Amino acid sequence: MTTPRALRPVGILGTGHYVPEKVLSNFDLEKLVDTSDEWIFARTGMRERRIAAPEEATSDLCIQAGRRALENAGVDPEEIGLIIVATVTPDHLVPATACIVQNELGCTNAGAFDLEAACSGFVTNLSVAQGMIANGTIDKALIIGGECMSRILDYEDRASCILFGDGAGAAVIGADAPRGRVIESFLGADGSGGHTMRVHAGGSRRPVDQDALAERMNYLRIKGNEVFKFAVSTFRTLMEKQMRDHDFGPDDLGLVVPHQVNYRIIESALKKLEVPEEKIFINLEKYGNTSGASVGIALDEAIREGRVVEGKFLSLIAFGAGLTWSSALLRW
Ligand code: COA
Repeated sequence: MTTPRALRPVGILGTGHYVPEKVLSNFDLEKLVDTSDEWIFARTGMRERRIAAPEEATSDLCIQAGRRALENAGVDPEEIGLIIVATVTPDHLVPATACIVQNELGCTNAGAFDLEAACSGFVTNLSVAQGMIANGTIDKALIIGGECMSRILDYEDRASCILFGDGAGAAVIGADAPRGRVIESFLGADGSGGHTMRVHAGGSRRPVDQDALAERMNYLRIKGNEVFKFAVSTFRTLMEKQMRDHDFGPDDLGLVVPHQVNYRIIESALKKLEVPEEKIFINLEKYGNTSGASVGIALDEAIREGRVVEGKFLSLIAFGAGLTWSSALLRW
């Protein structure tokens, strides 16, 4: 599925992110499961991740990130026509977390809904909102990826609990933005791979009951090896497609902001791409994998650190449970 040709140019007006204060280091995890800082860092590149306070929910992280993005964009809340929150950890099953954010931020003229595309969420948000702005339905959107992954992790399962953290990343996008013009976005899915990452109970197929809780079915289970292979090949395929479709090579690329999944996955994907590692923005050492928030947080940090190169391509690459994948190519 490719986004239709834009009727109006759409770009990024501002970005923001928020991560909770509490740090969970690899050494902290050593006390919870049979693992080690050495193993986690060697296999993932992660050193620590952030964990929401007991009173914090996903909307709280999204509100902070959203407020920062609005400030950074110099846009008033009333100017926003749409809020989309990408999350697999909404505050409630009903209502949408985006509506809580809409109310708290005072975005009184915005529609609001949640989007579930797991780790592809933030880039999928960008694609959806871009289409609506391009065709004139709205002028400005606040897109947010926010997660409290710690609420669906089993801290007795070393295969999954070491990988993820909490946080939120946001962007205000709009028509005729002076920079960060979205040239193309692309979405894909393969539901046959749904078994590789799943929370088995808590949905309509298997509501949470005593048996489900006893079997710890309310937590995320992953088949790491299978996901690893999917992630490497999807990263590569999405980048190759962008370069082929728009006829450019590594020299024209200013920066790639990929889903912060695992350093080894990124490293393996790069081997055949001939894109130098210094053109890849990586912050997973500090935050782990924040699922739908990951590209949003990384994008905001990359911009604030001056890593995005003016006049060059900025590539966003994401993939995750579903299976889903999404990419966007921007000119900065
Ligand atoms: N600490 C120590 N040992 C661990 C461990 C941990 N946290 N987790 C697994 N191991 C063990 C395994 O039990 C296995 O032991 P065995 O050889 O005795 O059976 C060994 O380490 C190797 O496990 P393996 O799964 O082959 O390791 P890996 O190199 O594939 O790394 C992941 C595991 C999870 C880090 C890696 O596969 C990965 O990042 N996959 C993708 C993760 C993902 O799904 N992310 C979300 C997608 S968006």
